[in-house]
Amino acid sequence: MYIESIELENFRNYEKEKVSFHRKVNMILGENAQGKTNLLESIYLMSLGKSFRTPREKEMIKMGSEFCRVKTAYKENGGEKEILEIFISKEGKKGIKKNSLKIEKISQLLDNIYVVVFSPEDMKIVKEDPEKRRSFMDREMCQMKYSYMSSLYSYKKILAQRNAYLKERKIDEDIMEVWDEQLSEAGAVLISGREDFIKKIDEISRNLNYEITEGKEKLEIKYRPSIENSENKDDLKKNIMKTLKKNRQNDLFYGNTGKGPHKDDFDIYINENEAKKYGSQGQQRTAALSIKLAETKIIEKEKKEKPILLLDDVLSELDANRQKYLINSLWDMQLFITTTEISSDIKKTLPEGKEYTVENGKVLQKAGYI
Ligand SMILES: Nc1ncnc2c1ncn2[C@@H]1O[C@H](COP(=O)(O)OP(=O)(O)OP(=O)(O)O)[C@@H](O)[C@H]1O
Ligand SMILES: [Mg+2]
Repeated sequence: MYIESIELENFRNYEKEKVSFHRKVNMILGENAQGKTNLLESIYLMSLGKSFRTPREKEMIKMGSEFCRVKTAYKENGGEKEILEIFISKEGKKGIKKNSLKIEKISQLLDNIYVVVFSPEDMKIVKEDPEKRRSFMDREMCQMKYSYMSSLYSYKKILAQRNAYLKERKIDEDIMEVWDEQLSEAGAVLISGREDFIKKIDEISRNLNYEITEGKEKLEIKYRPSIENSENKDDLKKNIMKTLKKNRQNDLFYGNTGKGPHKDDFDIYINENEAKKYGSQGQQRTAALSIKLAETKIIEKEKKEKPILLLDDVLSELDANRQKYLINSLWDMQLFITTTEISSDIKKTLPEGKEYTVENGKVLQKAGYI
């Protein structure tokens, strides 16, 4: 699938701008703080209805404006042109339209545009705390399965209620029982979804990492659920319920829920060693890259549609060989690459595409192709 054009109104530092894109490579150049990442953020917004940078939607509205609007024309594999539009107001109102018809549910938005973003933030998947890995799993699973998104939403809501209640230090066992039951129901969807996802990521990213490093590095990814998983959903639910019950006194003491999918993690190994502790920076970056590329393959397989890949500022983090591998292995997806500069050597290896320069919220298209 590919995006033909995007129209921005009061979006971040863009007042009014319309840009047409190439169906292959879109190389977006510009100095710092000109609006490159903002442009990618607007594309991402069209796929999940939210930002990849902030949970606070109002930040996307241009300072001093009352609302922002993003409109895009895109085409699916062999399909007709479709139009999607998102409007966000300062009061927190949000409206979504597809081909001028109102979309009522976020689930109806999710199955339109598939986007994978790879930014310096994603490098943290390998080296930083479990929170980063959990949000990686959640973000990708939400894009792929609406049932996961709604379970995640319920899980978070009930967990917050349970924690607030625990802090009051007086428990009504019956109330706890109801919450634990609901937590187990939603939690089982999260654990089994993550297990399945990590299995796929493990297999695909291992092959990609092997190719990128020319056989030198073997990548392995293992899911570490905080509660024992089970093939059977009912058994898994029971496991969660049992764990929550067993830990109730402890939770009461700390005023917090100590176990559950909100404590999940996955381990990343390079040549049998834990990448977080022993991997070099280059190895960690390559591992993150392989994981992200694996994600594009999973989407392609499940949705029968190639996603759009946004590479925000990551080219400069990779050495020349890895940059070449990245670009050449992705030529059949629509790519958006932002960078402050590109070497002429890498430029020569790019497949056909267009080059843009972003300057203070304006996008200028360079004449001719790359
Ligand atoms: N809501 C907003 N209203 C107006 N301007 C904003 C808003 N949010 C961000 N900006 C501005 O947008 C500008 C560009 O941001 P962006 O992150 O897109 O830069 P960039 O071109 O990706 O730069 P870098 O190369 O440093 O990553 C910044 O100067 C920032 O202050
Ligand atoms: Mg940027």
